[in-house]
Amino acid sequence: MICVIGSMNMDLVVNVDKIPIPGETRTGTSFSTISGGKGANQAVAAARMGSDVYMVARVGDDIFADTLKNELSSSKVNTDFVYTQKNSASGVALISVDEDGQNNIVVVPGANYFLTKKDIDDSSEAIEKSDIVVLQNEIPIETVSYALQTAKKMGKITVLNPAPARELEDEDFKNIDFLIPNEHELESLTDEPANTEEQLIMSAKKLIKKGAGHIIITLGENGCLYIGKDTQKHYKAYKVKAVDSTAAGDSFIGGFCSSYEKDKDIEKAIDIAQKTAAMSVMKNGAQSSIPTKEEFDEYWNK
Ligand code: RIB
Repeated sequence: MICVIGSMNMDLVVNVDKIPIPGETRTGTSFSTISGGKGANQAVAAARMGSDVYMVARVGDDIFADTLKNELSSSKVNTDFVYTQKNSASGVALISVDEDGQNNIVVVPGANYFLTKKDIDDSSEAIEKSDIVVLQNEIPIETVSYALQTAKKMGKITVLNPAPARELEDEDFKNIDFLIPNEHELESLTDEPANTEEQLIMSAKKLIKKGAGHIIITLGENGCLYIGKDTQKHYKAYKVKAVDSTAAGDSFIGGFCSSYEKDKDIEKAIDIAQKTAAMSVMKNGAQSSIPTKEEFDEYWNK
């Protein structure tokens, strides 16, 4: 069982040839509303890869709330601990995707920022029943710290995807078994440049010294870099035709957790993660792009 504690957003997505520069207006080619949010995407990815998943989150009482919850339920994610924030909008993300599949995202957290320490206590059943507890940074940072602490006290394996980049307390690193940032997030966690592999490894080692167990730095089309206490390894990405990179990192994390929960094999979990992420960039949108286990097996066994 996996418990994902994090955000649920409705993504308002425009496709456009080039992402406008400040002050510029461009005509887009399409608009869609697609369920997203880093937490919900990671929960959906793990569930579609075959894991039992709880989601702990907050939605608003607006027109998006039911759709966001239904999307989770239809992927068999348990929503018993998705709370409703009265008089609040659900989280939304304004996403522009260009013709190379690159995006930029502005998130308005809405109800996500009302997820409190009390909600974590109220969801202790979901945490208790899980082997792995997964967090990101789209909810209040004090809730992230508290949830990591709570999960660790219960003896759980903890995973933090520090996205978007926010400062963490030194104490937090001791409660993280797997820290999965991209290179920009790593840079803001350490305040050190992260341009070369050597720099990435040095930064990761600093966080391991602070107490983090393992670091996996996602590098987009360059794959990922694993750094453990005594080992490090670069894994190449699978080459696919990218149409939209939205939720690639989330698919990586969902795929990683689903595999690690079953086999406790880091190398195997990284391979599944990379394959899940590669498939997600071949389709548009966040949850709309995340493969099911059947799609995954069909694609990679062909
Ligand atoms: O990681 C992609 C997600 O980031 C989108 O679904 C959007 O909601 C933002 O949270």
